[in-house]
Formats: sequence, structure tokens, C-alpha cells
Amino acid sequence: MDSDQQSPFKRLNGIPADQIDVKNRREHVKKIVIEHPNYIKLLSEVEDIHFYSQESVKPDSMFLSGVAGVGKSTVLEEYTNRFERQIVNNNTVIPVLYSTVPVGATPKSVASKLLYSLGDPLYERGTEIGLTSRLLNFIKKCKVELIIIDEFQHLLDRDTQHVLNKASEWVKSFCDEAGVPIILCGFPESKKIFKFNPQLDRRFLVKLKMEGFYYNTQEEQIEFRTFLNSIDKRLPFVESSSLASKQLADKLYYATNGLPSHLNKILYEATALAAKSGSDSIDENHLYEAFNKLEFSTRPFVSNPFTVKEFNIVEAFEIEKLRSKDAN
Ligand SMILES: Nc1ncnc2c1ncn2[C@@H]1O[C@H](COP(=O)(O)OP(=O)(O)OP(=O)(O)O)[C@@H](O)[C@H]1O
Ligand SMILES: [Mg+2]
Repeated sequence: MDSDQQSPFKRLNGIPADQIDVKNRREHVKKIVIEHPNYIKLLSEVEDIHFYSQESVKPDSMFLSGVAGVGKSTVLEEYTNRFERQIVNNNTVIPVLYSTVPVGATPKSVASKLLYSLGDPLYERGTEIGLTSRLLNFIKKCKVELIIIDEFQHLLDRDTQHVLNKASEWVKSFCDEAGVPIILCGFPESKKIFKFNPQLDRRFLVKLKMEGFYYNTQEEQIEFRTFLNSIDKRLPFVESSSLASKQLADKLYYATNGLPSHLNKILYEATALAAKSGSDSIDENHLYEAFNKLEFSTRPFVSNPFTVKEFNIVEAFEIEKLRSKDAN
């Protein structure tokens, strides 16, 4: 496919891209966001929570979990960006407040981070009680309608009864007093806070899980290949890289286990390799080299599927499993 007219990136025709061009192409890859079915579904759940809670006597809240790299923050940030901060009568209006929990957080540092996200210059000053009450005031003053707290697992980094107790109590009363819907988002492990505190659980009965792509059924394969096709169209090259072809899709699924973050990382590296070699698309050799540069700690026994002739995805996963069994 030749799409010279649509692509803002020029044809290289075998001439290596210069450093700035390579950098621009890589940055472009980092920013690719595809509205795949899971993404759209989650976005609409967030929209519902936000919309139906407005002026409600009891706003709904939600807990969203998912393993690293499935795309949780991408959805939440995209939703936040839809609502611009505005100055109205000398007052900053922040319809959607997005904040992350810092590593090793305590309720005090969460309150402080939320104040920082609201733009309070004194976000570090005060006791836990002082910061929390300032935070609640700011939420009203800035007319916050929805609060999104990402990286929630960090509130449970120091996993003791005392920490869980303190953290869950703080979140519970914060929810009650904020009076707006809250979306907590974190790793699946952070769910344990709800088991620990049934009162908090009652406030977060809606628990959603974001998952990566699957590849077992024909529908699942089509979904993943459609995702690849959309990405391919957005790659910073004038020619198609045929990512969605059956052969490459099998290999890309095996290499990434259906995780958008891993796919993006491979394509990010492969983009640089392709552009540096003056290529107008990413080919399997670029993917092979890109994959070799990366080490996925969660898959120590994965093998490089690219450039393998007659690649069999089922066998490849089985071999990986056997290797991992042998090592244990
Ligand atoms: N909808 C999407 N389309 C294309 N790429 C995506 C999409 N969602 C996520 N990605 C890719 O995956 C990367 C990781 O996504 P994101 O940071 O949203 O994951 P996460 O679930 O928040 O992970 P973590 O738990 O580690 O914070 C993104 O930087 C992007 O490259
Ligand atoms: Mg995230």
C-alpha cells in the first residue's frame, strides 16, 4: 500500500533517516492510541459513572484492575483530557481530576499528590488531617465532578495490617466526604484492600477488569489482527508493514502475549531500526532485532519468533512452558 499522501513522514527510498527524523518517528509511535473494543467499553463505563453521578445523592464509584501494560492509564488519561481545565471568575474549574498514587504512599502522601494535581502550591504543607481537609475544600472549589486515582497498588506497598487498616479507612472516609464519584485503578493484587475492609468494598462494588488481547478463538484472532491493522496504518512509514498478516500476527501475539505495552515497545525499537536503514516499512528483520534488544522479565523463556520459518504459535507457547517447568 502506498500512502505517501496521508503520511506526514517522507519516503526514505533506502536513504537512512537522520537523527531528528528517527526521533520524530519514534515519538510518533509512542503516541499511537487505538480505540479497540476493550478501550471503547471501558471509556463508556467511565463516561457512565461520571454522567450518572452528577447531582446524584450518592455518587457511584468503581475499581478498575489490570496487569501492567494493558492500557488502563491510557483510557483514563484520554477521558481526563476530554475535559479541559478552565478559569471561571478567577477560579480554576477541574471537571475531572486524575492523579497517581506515589510509590510507598501513605494516606498523607496521597492527599498531598491529589492537591498537587489540583495545582495547590502548598501541597506539601500540613498534617494528614490538614491536607485532607484542604483537599476536600479544593474539590468543591474547583467543581471537581470525577476523581481518578491511578497506581492504587502503591497505597498498599507496605503490606501490614496497620497500613491496610489506615489506608482503607482513609479511602473510605475520603469517598464519603468528597461527594463525587471516584475511580480507583491498580494492579489486580490491590483488590485485597476490599476483602480487608467490607465497608470500603460496599462503596466499590463495581469492579472492572481490563485485559489484554486473547488469541484462542477466531473472533479473538480477528480482534487482535484488527488492532494490528489499525496500528500499521498509523506507523510513521509510507508503506504498510503487514503487521496484520496471519504470519506476523501469530508472531506478534506470541512476542507480546497480547499486551499493548509490549507491542508498542517492539514497534518503537523496530521503527528506529527501519528508519535508520532507510526502509519505508518495518520488516521481520527489524522486528527480530528489536525483540532481541528487549528483555521481558515476566517471560524468561520466551524465544524470538521473528524470521522463524513455519512458525507455530501453539508449539511456541508449549515450548516456553516446558522450558519454564524444567527450570523450576
Ligand atoms: N489503546 C491503545 N492503543 C495502542 N497502544 C496502546 C493502547 N493502550 C495502551 N497502549 C500501549 O501500551 C502502553 C501502556 O499503556 P498504559 O500505560 O495505559 O498501561 P497500564 O495498564 O496503565 O500499565 P501500568 O499498570 O504499568 O501503569 C502505552 O504506552 C501504549 O504504548
Ligand atoms: Mg498505568
